[in-house]
Amino acid sequence: MAVPLLVRLQSYLDPLLLLSISIAYFPLTLLSHPLLFVTSPSTFRSKWFENFWRIIGPKMAASEAQVNHIEELLSRANRKVLELGPGAGDQMYHYKPAQIEVLYCAEPNAFLHGKLIENAEKHGLGKKAVALEAGAQPGSLLPALKKAGLIPSTTSSLPENGVFDTIVAVKSLCSAPQKQLAATVAIVQALLKPGGEFLFFEHVENNGDSITMSYAWLVDWIWPVFMGGCRLDGKIDRVVLGMGGWDERKVTTTDEFQGHEVRKHSSTIRAFPCRQQSWGNSVNTDI
Ligand SMILES: C[S@@+](CC[C@H](N)C(=O)[O-])C[C@H]1O[C@@H](n2cnc3c(N)ncnc32)[C@H](O)[C@@H]1O
Repeated sequence: MAVPLLVRLQSYLDPLLLLSISIAYFPLTLLSHPLLFVTSPSTFRSKWFENFWRIIGPKMAASEAQVNHIEELLSRANRKVLELGPGAGDQMYHYKPAQIEVLYCAEPNAFLHGKLIENAEKHGLGKKAVALEAGAQPGSLLPALKKAGLIPSTTSSLPENGVFDTIVAVKSLCSAPQKQLAATVAIVQALLKPGGEFLFFEHVENNGDSITMSYAWLVDWIWPVFMGGCRLDGKIDRVVLGMGGWDERKVTTTDEFQGHEVRKHSSTIRAFPCRQQSWGNSVNTDI
């Protein structure tokens, strides 16, 4: 299907606009935290992202193009839930507090934790939300889960019956190390209880349009620096679809042409009978 020129141009301007807003927050962060820039560049980057995301996060979470899809997914989360990369909790309002017992929030940027907990309280989750300073990749997530007492710290295996009823990721796995995506999803699968669901809403590589692909490839040279490590060439959809051990898999593209990012949402259910073929209790947690 031919893409109208205006639609194409608009979609190419969007990332440039975001880049310029992030760039504007660099001097502001530098002025308020000059020492951090020198003493700990990675902490400075987290602070810079927090300053930027506090403004942009709520606007993104209200975006009409995404809100219904995210609502459809997050309203399914139930009982013991793990969210990967929840940011400042701008999507928390989609959860149904009555069906959630506890919500563990694995957010590596500790500067966002205050707002995250504030949003959890504002949206009726009260004390049910627990912030963990961790990324989604196994080397970061598993030690945090051990520290929180969610998986045994003394053995190198994960609990055979999983830990969580639902695991959620909304636009965060694009920021997790892409080379470890398969290992990350394998751990997600192993951490789910039988019948538990992995729900994600992520943007992935646009591989259906060569002009857009080239444009995204070009932008991706600088994009992660200004967007907290986010990549435009995510492949979470292909990783999930290429992996066994799911009872049900549903990956849906939200729109036909989406420019620099293609948004996909998915629910996948971990099946009990597949346990032996999946990563189950054979996952080594000594990371
Ligand atoms: C674009 S923001 C999305 C935040 C939130 N999910 C939302 O939709 O409002 C990306 C989030 O992923 C987090 N992140 C960065 N590295 C990550 C990693 N390795 N694993 C999981 N999340 C990560 C960032 O700190 C940030 O909060």
